[in-house]
Amino acid sequence: MTVKLETGRVFHRSEAIAELVLEHSAIAPVLRRHRIDFSAKGSLTLEQVCELNGTSVEVVLNDLHRAVQSPDQRPFTDPRAMSPAALMFHIVARHHSFLRDVLSVSEGLAIKVERVHAGREAPLTRIREVVHSLRALLEPHIEHEEVMLFPALLEHSMSKEELIAEAAASKTDHARTSALLSELRQLTNDYKPPEWADSSVRGLYHQLEGLEADTLEHVHLENYVLFPALASQRKETEEKR
Ligand SMILES: [Fe+2]
Ligand SMILES: [Fe+2]
Repeated sequence: MTVKLETGRVFHRSEAIAELVLEHSAIAPVLRRHRIDFSAKGSLTLEQVCELNGTSVEVVLNDLHRAVQSPDQRPFTDPRAMSPAALMFHIVARHHSFLRDVLSVSEGLAIKVERVHAGREAPLTRIREVVHSLRALLEPHIEHEEVMLFPALLEHSMSKEELIAEAAASKTDHARTSALLSELRQLTNDYKPPEWADSSVRGLYHQLEGLEADTLEHVHLENYVLFPALASQRKETEEKR
């Protein structure tokens, strides 16, 4: 279902950030810029998350209002209108394939940049380590989703207990992912390359910023759309029995 974005929307500090992003995808870049994690901490309100980050909620609210008033907003597909099966296909086709590519390119660049710029005042070794940790975490994670979890969900072959355990394990991986992404944002000074940066450093920072944007959207979809949709589908089936 394609929906028109509502302009002039007034946001409130007491709203949960995951819901706000579902309603207005245009605000995701604003939240990222303010280092607000809507993928793993999406159930927190804007006020709670700003307090955690030490950010002014008024400044963030102001930026959010500006983002939804800008004229270049395009209609978008509301993921809440998709079936769980359609969502899983979308996640694999769009986010998993992108993730595999960007992780491999980023790790190659991080290794090269660390070697070429050894001695520079930049945390290039730690950046390379964090990129490696993300790859070591996420490649098996998406493989598990594609080979085991999503097929089992499509066939409804998991017990309620198994489903709860799988959702909890996923959320743990997602929280680790978001912590690593947040460390990368700090290490790269919000993805601003240093003055001495050559094309490899700029390329690496560009890849990492794209990795963050796509992965937060991916994790947000799984945590706040796919898993709740599956839970309510199961509840409906149980009630019919
Ligand atoms: Fe996934
Ligand atoms: Fe996942």
